[in-house]
Amino acid sequence: MKPVILAIESSCDETSAAVLENGKVLSNIVSSQLAHAKYGGVVPEIASRLHQQDIIAVVHEALEKSGKTRTDLDAIAFTRGPGLLGSLLVGTCFAKSYAFGLGIPLIEVNHMQAHVLANFLSDSPPAFPFLCLTVSGGHTQIVLVRNYLDMEVIGQTLDDAAGEAYDKAGKIMGLPYPAGPVIDKLAKEGNIDFHDFPIPSIPGLNFSFSGLKTNLLYFLRDNLALNPDFIQQNINDICASYQHRIVSYLLAKLKKAAREYKVKDLAIAGGVSANSELRRQFGETCEKLQVRPHIPAFQFCTDNAGMIGIAAHFKYLAGEFADLEAVPFTREG
Ligand code: KG4
Ligand code: ZN
Repeated sequence: MKPVILAIESSCDETSAAVLENGKVLSNIVSSQLAHAKYGGVVPEIASRLHQQDIIAVVHEALEKSGKTRTDLDAIAFTRGPGLLGSLLVGTCFAKSYAFGLGIPLIEVNHMQAHVLANFLSDSPPAFPFLCLTVSGGHTQIVLVRNYLDMEVIGQTLDDAAGEAYDKAGKIMGLPYPAGPVIDKLAKEGNIDFHDFPIPSIPGLNFSFSGLKTNLLYFLRDNLALNPDFIQQNINDICASYQHRIVSYLLAKLKKAAREYKVKDLAIAGGVSANSELRRQFGETCEKLQVRPHIPAFQFCTDNAGMIGIAAHFKYLAGEFADLEAVPFTREG
């Protein structure tokens, strides 16, 4: 069986469609909504409208680039959640109608599982069981992956997600949304020792990021009182030391989990796994632990339908299909 699957992703601010054949991506079109940049975060109402506006063109382009036509399709996959309700509804309605019209099965995909499974879009995927650090705009999780569709969250953030720590810091410093890639770039020229951000003291494998953001806020407030140009004059150093704390904190927890669970493969996933410093230090950590590192290709780190497609591929093989009454869920559990 070599299923051809059309996958749709619309959970947040990316409208994306991909076509996969037998688990290989033939096309992966991502339309990122730039309209949110000036607001410092995603505006849900704008996001749903833009998904509605763009989805047909994005699907057409994905089909065209793949060299397949709609009659080649064996199933339609969509992100059921977690995400923004209005955004999810657009992809869900579109996928249902398309599957219904073509008379083919519908597959629902959990967005966070899909981020993990993006690691199977590589030529040398991880071996089970492995641990995946999934770091995105809404989630920070360490996931024990026993099999394609058998995952357990063994650690997670108790407040903000790692991506949120980047985006909220960006908002404080007047950087455009999403701030993650901007801070990543500025940090390359900065000094990591500029400010010693506190290490959050959360026991076990859970995380906390809200204190870091508050520390940044107070640090900037105190320094701006003395020098109104403090941010502009030191932006690279502020970004480098702030990012340094996020990355070292994430990897310290992952290292702890790797020792506890004694796995031989470690992976990272989600939008923040596109971060150059995290990617570099993750490689070093794996080398020290003598485990195999896995990082999705850049285009499969931030939200994309390719990862929804690979998750759907494994669900198709397992015979797990959705019914036409499936409705989105905004949060897990
Ligand atoms: O996975 P994703 O595309 O969407 C969610 O599921 O949330 O992740 C988006 C997050 C945003 O917070 C964004 O700032 C962050 O990923 N991000 C980065 C980088 N690229 C995207 N954070 C740090 N460095 C990057 N290069
Ligand atoms: Zn995501």
